[in-house]
Amino acid sequence: MKICRTKQDIRETVKAFQATGETVALVPTMGYLHEGHMTLVRTAKANADRVVVSIFVNPTQFGEAADLDAYPRDETHDFAMLEAEDVDAVFCPSVEEMYHPLKQTTVLTEELDKVLMGALRPGHFKGVCTVVTKLFNITGADKAFFGEKDYQQLQVIKTMVRDLDMPIEITGVPTVREVDGLAMSSRNVRLTPEDRQAALVLNKALAFADYEVSDGRTGPGLEEEIREFIAREPRAKLESVDVRDAETLAEVPGPITRPVVILLAARFGNVLLIDQRVADPM
Ligand code: PAJ
Repeated sequence: MKICRTKQDIRETVKAFQATGETVALVPTMGYLHEGHMTLVRTAKANADRVVVSIFVNPTQFGEAADLDAYPRDETHDFAMLEAEDVDAVFCPSVEEMYHPLKQTTVLTEELDKVLMGALRPGHFKGVCTVVTKLFNITGADKAFFGEKDYQQLQVIKTMVRDLDMPIEITGVPTVREVDGLAMSSRNVRLTPEDRQAALVLNKALAFADYEVSDGRTGPGLEEEIREFIAREPRAKLESVDVRDAETLAEVPGPITRPVVILLAARFGNVLLIDQRVADPM
């Protein structure tokens, strides 16, 4: 596995693969890899000749400096996991390598940026779009893989690629969970044992909502039921519950007749967790 710390190195590595007619898939990550990331890697491997993984904790998508500082990192462990999966190359630049000191250009999906997580964390998706655009441009990969766990992020990236004619194919991969149902996340290690247990309420609430959705509910009605369900877990500080059209992320004021995505964000202690599930009323 080739370790590339400069843009030039990864660009030349990908070019050399493509020169022999091979397709290259990119899996962008912020490291501290777990089975969720590994599932993206395996899906990428099954769909391309070569797989490149990027590891970069992107400062421009963090609102609070404390959240950025607290983000877990373990490069040695990450490299070992990627090596075991036969990944071809890893791109792990420094912040200085990634961003020009006089940078002034950003990428933004105007409408999707303002709603849901975008409204809660101003600037977050602008940071994501900008760094993902840079990763696409730097690597020149043919395909890229993203998790459905970050549902809005996936829709934002698909929209950006469509609107800006980026020559790359985007694939979403279903959320990978621990055996007890907690969505895998690099943040889970920061949970206390009590909060780790309490956090199961998110997946339970999604299962409950999935069951309720088929019974003539409206978007706001279902949101209220989910709020009541999660309120029974005192350790959960709910940040948001949103029932939205699964495709457009538009609100669903009336009865649910098309697939919806249920998006949850809650704090356990100081750890912000998100989870999602697509539910079909049919
Ligand atoms: P990160 O949180 O490291 O996630 C990298 C990728 O792994 C994302 O596409 C995310 O959706 C996916 N992922 C995380 N947990 C998952 C799980 N339990 N099941 C399936 N997929 C999962 O998302 C980011 O990094 C950054 O915003 C990034 C896109 C790299 C831009 O900086």
